[in-house]
Amino acid sequence: MFNTRSSRLFTLSAVSIALTGLSTISAYAETLTVSSPDKRLAVTVTDDNDNPQYSVHFGQETILNASRLGLNFKTLPEFGPDFKISASWTETQNDTWEQPWGEKQYIRSHYNELAIEFENPQGYEFIVRFRVFDDGIGFRYEVSPHKNIAQVEIVDEETEFAFATDATTWWIPARGWNRYEYIYETTQLSEIDRVHTPFTLKTPAGTHVAIHEAALVDYAAFTLDRRRGTTLKTDLTPWYDGIKVKTSAPFKSSWRTIQVADDATGLLNSDLILNLNEPNKLGDVSWVEPGKYVGIWWAMHVNEKTWGSGDKHGATTEETKRYIDFAAKYNFDGVLVEGWNEGWDGSWFHNGDVFSFTQPYPDFDLPALAQYAQQKGVRLVGHHETSGSVSNYRNQIQDAYDLYEKMGVRQIKTGYVADGGDIKRVDDNGVVRHEWHDGQFMANEYLHSILEAAKRKISINTHEPIKDTGLRRTYPNWISREGARGQEFNAWGSPPNPPEHTAVLPYTRMLSGPMDFTPGIFNLAPYGLHAENRVQTTLAKQLALYVVLYSPIQMAADLPRHYESNMPAFRFILDVPTDWSHSMALAGEVGDYVVFARKERGAEDWYLGGLTDENARVVEISTDFLDKNRLYEMQVYQDGARADWLNNPYEMEIYRKPVRAGQKLTLRMAKSGGVAIRFKAQK
Ligand code: NOJ
Ligand code: CA
Repeated sequence: MFNTRSSRLFTLSAVSIALTGLSTISAYAETLTVSSPDKRLAVTVTDDNDNPQYSVHFGQETILNASRLGLNFKTLPEFGPDFKISASWTETQNDTWEQPWGEKQYIRSHYNELAIEFENPQGYEFIVRFRVFDDGIGFRYEVSPHKNIAQVEIVDEETEFAFATDATTWWIPARGWNRYEYIYETTQLSEIDRVHTPFTLKTPAGTHVAIHEAALVDYAAFTLDRRRGTTLKTDLTPWYDGIKVKTSAPFKSSWRTIQVADDATGLLNSDLILNLNEPNKLGDVSWVEPGKYVGIWWAMHVNEKTWGSGDKHGATTEETKRYIDFAAKYNFDGVLVEGWNEGWDGSWFHNGDVFSFTQPYPDFDLPALAQYAQQKGVRLVGHHETSGSVSNYRNQIQDAYDLYEKMGVRQIKTGYVADGGDIKRVDDNGVVRHEWHDGQFMANEYLHSILEAAKRKISINTHEPIKDTGLRRTYPNWISREGARGQEFNAWGSPPNPPEHTAVLPYTRMLSGPMDFTPGIFNLAPYGLHAENRVQTTLAKQLALYVVLYSPIQMAADLPRHYESNMPAFRFILDVPTDWSHSMALAGEVGDYVVFARKERGAEDWYLGGLTDENARVVEISTDFLDKNRLYEMQVYQDGARADWLNNPYEMEIYRKPVRAGQKLTLRMAKSGGVAIRFKAQK
């Protein structure tokens, strides 16, 4: 069998070694290699050990030593030991595809693929498919139909990432009560326990690596579990009963991804995750609308209003009109209204079963407000907080989305506030089960909401989501999500987000996709500069966030009165777009600082956002990205000479100056400060 199969072996740079002439599969050991188009990154796969293994090299540097591959099932033999390479195929793709919206309009997908089939003496087979791009590697498991594996339950995955050296790492803990909402830790690789992905590290040679996954559909997310030394192992998030994945053959896992770059900004400029996702499956998605929104939101977080009914109820008809007027006056696209529906009274965190998604509170006139918004050229942004009671939500989802569709709502923010492992669902027998936000059950549940919404031309912004794996490429109405500590933690988090937080996010959470962080707080210290809960940034850094933290929808999160009392700074929020044709990270180090330049989609203006951690910093950049044949006016919003986040966060310099391509700019940032620049193209 091996001999016939091996005739299908054409690898790009394959080394095939037959150790003996015996005809049984196990007598052969084979080693295959596939490299990136630029030849710097290489994956080598071998069956010359107890288990199938792969290793990764980047130029002269070994990134991963021989690392196990394999799957473990409840009733089948383990796919690993005794499996030998029985066939392999290669392919090269070099394409460019277009994003309907995004941080760039065109994305190049150039990779070499090596698919390897492993087989054991009993005739079980599985394929591991590797795609090697210049910016990283993806690989996934594929199991074909087989008479014994109609229904399968995966109980473990054996994939390892055996790092060759210790490294500096940035991470949040996994399988914790607060889902993905933790402050990032910086430690040695050899000190971590169990972490979420994207998991980012820097090797002693300065190479930056991030482990994550792409195209997670009908499968469990994985976290990373440290084994001995510097070896990590995939740890699939279980169902309530401990099984990791319930499926039937044929099936495939999501892609395990390894982004590799010479420096920190290389990670930010990588398109690996999107490239490993399937093309758009929704057809015409011109109805998915990037844009900016305001809303009845921060007022609740700073205790001025409540979600529930009573004197302080935020979502009243009158208050919503006030926000619609404000949005119309300043050209915002949407007005988010939280707390409009019955069910918030009492302890809403634990009351998920009583939410109605169609019944407004009596003081909220939905049809009248929808009409009022429409007259003013603004859309209501819908809100569904489930508090993790997903069966209650699923039972109402058709009616709820129908209602919003009828009201002209094009975007819904959903919420799944529940502790990790405490999503509540009622199974087919009426038994309550508790699930994780990132297990297979919830991977499917979130996608169900996306598909139901798509039928009605509605986009979804998921809070307390499953981590992003690039599914916006396939389902472009999955417009944004949370999935990390956002601005809200500054209102009530103990502790709030530290100055470093947004200098870590670009290199970690943001590698997975857009985030609805909700930037733009102007009253940085509602309880006083020295209260625990305040925003630990300067004002200029709040503006920089609009460029740094990519999302096609961005909120102006603060209260209207705080914007109207600082119109010069508000100007930047009004100007900055949320849809781009080009994006590039110009400078940065993980957890220290970052500078991005982005070009407005369908226009000639460029924008720059830079921010720093607790350290003041001067960063030199060059305006090489600008069009050489144009003159621009630079509109700069930067920290004042004496600004610092703690005692003097508001001091800001706003000025205009002509600029051309190729000039050097010195960006001066205060402690936890930032800079935002519009490069306005001159006619
Ligand atoms: C958590 C969300 O992140 C936040 O934005 C929202 O206000 C609350 N849940 C209530 O739904
Ligand atoms: Ca730092």
